[in-house]
Amino acid sequence: MTTYRDSLRLSWHCGWMGLVCLVPAFAPVAVNADDQVRFNRDVLPILAEHCYACHGLDKGARKADLRLDQREAATKDRDGTRAIVPGHPEESELWVRITSSDPETVMPPLKTDRQITDAQREILKRWIVQGAEYEPDWAYLPPKSVVPPEVAGSSRVIGCI
Ligand code: HEC
Repeated sequence: MTTYRDSLRLSWHCGWMGLVCLVPAFAPVAVNADDQVRFNRDVLPILAEHCYACHGLDKGARKADLRLDQREAATKDRDGTRAIVPGHPEESELWVRITSSDPETVMPPLKTDRQITDAQREILKRWIVQGAEYEPDWAYLPPKSVVPPEVAGSSRVIGCI
């Protein structure tokens, strides 16, 4: 027969088990959320500002017949080189070019005013290491027009209108 003492002990036990199970389940998520490079938030602004003028949608302005705005094109084998080799920055021509000390090959070309910073290089590197995932087109919209203001309940209200 279960006594009051037993049920107390049982609930104490369950409480600890709950904690023991929850802590490892949540901890890695929090760590990854910080480290994970996100295409739209972190990568797109760099590529759009520094690369798309010559490697984007506009066929007329495209240089070296290279598109960096689509994963398929950016990872394609082009005569033995690939702009992006997911997981391997050192094999990616993009990384070789943005870190090149040769003024003839460095990207963006020196003559443009589109130079990138070391912090931006680091983001591109981490993105390639993490698999160079792109995000879908709808997310290209500026976050301002997608994310509702952070006021309690507002997202639901906006969703209903
Ligand atoms: C002003 C135009 C311009 C901009 C901006 C530009 N590029 Fe280029 N890119 C070129 C030209 C021209 C070539 C071809 C000549 C060469 O290979 O150096 C080229 C070639 C490349 C190649 C080699 C393609 C191949 O297969 O041989 C890569 C990779 C590349 N660019 C990456 C980038 C990246 C990444 C950025 C942005 C950080 C960028 N480029 C910005 C003009 C540009």
